[in-house]
Amino acid sequence: MTKITLIKGDGIGPEISDAVVEIIEKSGAKVEWDVQTAGLDVIETEGVPLPERVIKSIKENKVALKAPITTPIGKGFRSVNVQLRKELNLFANIRPCKNIPTIKTKFDDVDLVVVRENTEDLYAGVEEQIDENTAHSIKIITRDASIRIAKYAFDYAVKYGRKEVCVVTKANICKLSDGLFLDCAREVSKGYPQIKFREILVDNCCMQLVQNPSQFDVLVLPNLYGDIVSDLTAGLIGGLGVAKSANIGDDCAVFEAVHGSAPDIKGQNKANPMALLLSGVEMLKHIGQTECAGKIEKALYKTLESGIKTADIGGHATLSEFTQSIINNI
Ligand code: NAI
Repeated sequence: MTKITLIKGDGIGPEISDAVVEIIEKSGAKVEWDVQTAGLDVIETEGVPLPERVIKSIKENKVALKAPITTPIGKGFRSVNVQLRKELNLFANIRPCKNIPTIKTKFDDVDLVVVRENTEDLYAGVEEQIDENTAHSIKIITRDASIRIAKYAFDYAVKYGRKEVCVVTKANICKLSDGLFLDCAREVSKGYPQIKFREILVDNCCMQLVQNPSQFDVLVLPNLYGDIVSDLTAGLIGGLGVAKSANIGDDCAVFEAVHGSAPDIKGQNKANPMALLLSGVEMLKHIGQTECAGKIEKALYKTLESGIKTADIGGHATLSEFTQSIINNI
């Protein structure tokens, strides 16, 4: 049995977590869940949204499956997601985007991976209110973190037989911060002559992505651009309901969907569990339970092929019908 920290989150988090746990258990995976709560509800009982026990559990278990957690806009507590990534030093956020059989989109040849730096940039949360009409937000980019993420992107390319790494910045405007990120990527690229290296500005990158996404392979980006661009790339393969991700550090890994807590569809039994399920599949591969991972993927594709889909990807199935079909196929 491998012990896994499970954070069910809020919004649609608990309903999709329950579905994913049921599917993973039916696959015969040897996992034991260490369920930990975090987020808004926890503040009432424990005073903070991310209690130390959650960090401790992930540090002990080394692996977590995490559903989305709401972050208040404009005021309130700091994002639990950002805090978790920072405290566990989960420096690489990997968001692969590849067309999924039977999910029709404008393109049928998307196969790219977003590698997002996960610990600094504007997400460092260094903000100050100068006066009533002025606020400052500091963008922090360091050499160490930039070299580390660029190396991760190139190593990933080598490991998975990718051909190119493209660094995405706005170094023409943020000359010092993005300039440093770009310089680090250039420096690291010299150590990987077998992998092509490309540079692009983030605005042009977005335009190219919606016109001709197949030209891209591995993209490496600072935190903010990585966050935005990976929602865009999720849209290329069917939307947020199907986009998986992994937060990787030297010691721990936290697997989660790209999407948020989707409060607009909370409790309506219509959320798509695929993004969290596919993140769970990656988690099973990460802990060496590849057979169960394969079983789940096969069952999921069979469900999709039979036309059973949730509304966000063009179907009529509820969350429970979709989940039950995958379980039947296992
Ligand atoms: P969101 O990703 O929650 O939702 C955007 C749109 O996509 C909504 O229309 C939603 O219904 C739809 N959607 C998302 N996931 C879906 C699914 N599984 N099935 C079907 N439709 C789905 O983004 P939003 O509304 O901007 O953020 C809501 C909250 O989530 C915010 O508090 C935000 O801070 C938080 N958030 C948390 C993340 C995390 O825990 N890692 C990541 C992103 C946002």
